[in-house]
Amino acid sequence: MRAAANPESHETTDPVEICVCCDAERLERHPFHPDLNVFRPSQRQQEALVKLAASGEGCVSAAFAAGRTVAYVALQKPDRFERWSEDPTGRIWELGAVEVAPEWRGRGLARRLLKQTFAVGLFDDKIVIAQLLSWHYDTDRTGVSPFTYREALIRLYREVGFRVWRTNDPEIAGRIENALMARIGAKAPPEAVESFHKLRLAGSAPWDFPF
Ligand SMILES: CC(C)(COP(=O)(O)OP(=O)(O)OC[C@H]1O[C@@H](n2cnc3c(N)ncnc32)[C@H](O)[C@@H]1OP(=O)(O)O)[C@@H](O)C(=O)NCCC(=O)NCCS
Repeated sequence: MRAAANPESHETTDPVEICVCCDAERLERHPFHPDLNVFRPSQRQQEALVKLAASGEGCVSAAFAAGRTVAYVALQKPDRFERWSEDPTGRIWELGAVEVAPEWRGRGLARRLLKQTFAVGLFDDKIVIAQLLSWHYDTDRTGVSPFTYREALIRLYREVGFRVWRTNDPEIAGRIENALMARIGAKAPPEAVESFHKLRLAGSAPWDFPF
């Protein structure tokens, strides 16, 4: 005889497990889906993210299904070649990558990963920037224009507290398909907020950028 469904049961049919700011060993145990290759070949991306998680200077949240990683978001300190690395407060971080294997897209995995990662409070005293750069967009597979892609990402990131900011960064400024977004944590110290605003407009006179 089949047991009656128990409404108190926490059993779930969700085949996906989310691991927020996952430790390096767990990431290593879950091979990356071969199609997680937008930024690098999947195996190399796994190695890089395992290294990042082990460094203590980053957070990699992952979605696991059937023993492998099918999606991830990665946050890290800005690369030393970027203007953001000049921040003296150390509170500016970067949402470096969000990637979902194509066969797992459109099921809310990116949204779940982002929401759960920002829900734990780890980033509330930080400013997290996100550079939307069209050369990272998977327009070939999705068939949408870079501008439409940008708008979709803006809507998604807004849901977790990011907003669009103007910048004079030449990679972003003047290119309608790119954007700078940032999430200013509710507990980010004023000196970090000031540093963010200085850096986004580095080298410009205030009258060049009234807002
Ligand atoms: C962008 C990406 C992470 C979205 O992953 P996903 O799990 O499919 O996204 P979700 O299912 O959580 O959907 C989130 C929202 O974003 C929208 N969206 C995301 N990517 C989109 C795209 N390329 N085109 C249109 N809409 C998109 C969805 O419409 C959805 O909004 P809705 O639920 O209101 O319709 C995924 O397409 C991907 O890995 N792309 C390649 C890498 C990339 O572009 N990363 C972002 C820049 S670093």
